[in-house]
Amino acid sequence: MTDCLPFDTLDKLDPQGKRILVRIDLNVPVKDGKVIDQTRIDRIVPTVRELLEKGGRVILLSHFDRPQGKFVPDMSLQPIAIALATALGRPVSFVHDCIGEEAEAATLLLKDGEVLLLENTRFHPGEEKNCQDLSASLARLGDVYVNDAFSAAHRAHASTAGVAEHLPSFGGRLMEAELRALYTALENPERPVGAIIGGAKVSTKLALLSNMIEKVDMLAIGGAMANTFLAAQGIFVGLSLKEEEMFETAQNIMKKAAERQCDVVLPIDVVVAQEILPNVQTHIVPVKAIPAGWMVLDIGPETSALINKKLADLKTLVWNGPLGIFELPPFDAGTNAVAQEAGRLTTAGSLKTIAGGGDTVAALRHAGALHEMTYVSTAGGAFLEWLEGKILPGLTAISTTLEKTLSI
Ligand code: 3PG
Repeated sequence: MTDCLPFDTLDKLDPQGKRILVRIDLNVPVKDGKVIDQTRIDRIVPTVRELLEKGGRVILLSHFDRPQGKFVPDMSLQPIAIALATALGRPVSFVHDCIGEEAEAATLLLKDGEVLLLENTRFHPGEEKNCQDLSASLARLGDVYVNDAFSAAHRAHASTAGVAEHLPSFGGRLMEAELRALYTALENPERPVGAIIGGAKVSTKLALLSNMIEKVDMLAIGGAMANTFLAAQGIFVGLSLKEEEMFETAQNIMKKAAERQCDVVLPIDVVVAQEILPNVQTHIVPVKAIPAGWMVLDIGPETSALINKKLADLKTLVWNGPLGIFELPPFDAGTNAVAQEAGRLTTAGSLKTIAGGGDTVAALRHAGALHEMTYVSTAGGAFLEWLEGKILPGLTAISTTLEKTLSI
């Protein structure tokens, strides 16, 4: 399936003796100086290990957090080098800047099979401005460029986009896996294909919903976003979170979906409470009987059974966003029930499930279904932008369809 990839993979690169500038995403959750979720680190190991084992000299570039172009000690990548070395099973040296004499000297001293991590690219104001000077300075550190940071591909930054103009460029193994999964889900899916889209606001997922109804056969909407759809149909939703200014948009989405024969599944029953607190009194009510003074905090059991019934007919499923306030039981029951059924069908081989973005990974992990998914993206914003149908600058930059006059 290499045809679906817009870039050259590592299969086209002979790393032996080359300085390989690899953009990864080390923007990982850290608490008290310790990495508390290794996922993104573990997922870049195959690329780095492959390049090292084939005699490459690997120079790793990443951003961390949002230091606004200034040096912020708490946002240094240095502590993450330790977690990285553990994951790679070999020492990782570190340089306190991502450009400049010290960085250049360190890259020239690297031997085949050695790896070096450079400091947070966002300590330079030119990074987020995709500044030419910074891109050129970064390019001086390598002979070739590999982008393995799909999760940062929605950013047109010097280390994700600009640098690729100066060097022969490739997509790493994680980039490749992410793209293959997304193509499987939306570009060339086995049909019927469905999507579960949860989350709080229609306004933040408008582009995504509009793109989804063009592509999928079934769209289940949950989370507080569903209240806006229900209210737009004249259903009383009590104190529930809703966006009145989006009613017309919601009606248009429903209309367009009907024209396209996309089956939109909205809640038929819901779990309501008067406050968002642990151990509050809750009721399960049909959507047409939401009492005044109560708010919807989860889909009800009839809704999860309905979605699960629809899942049984699908071959492919894209999942983004929880269906209720999963962080606060019992409002996790709807998300759990649907995630577990998606997991069961995926494990049984009748469904391919591709999940990603924002809270989705946490919600699926909470449901115990994370490892049953066909593919879980490491990306938050980039996954969403892909689902919205946007062009990702980090992908365009390494695209083989761009004219390049360079040779390796
Ligand atoms: C992410 O965590 O989604 C990426 O690392 C991008 O981070 P950003 O939203 O700060 O650009």
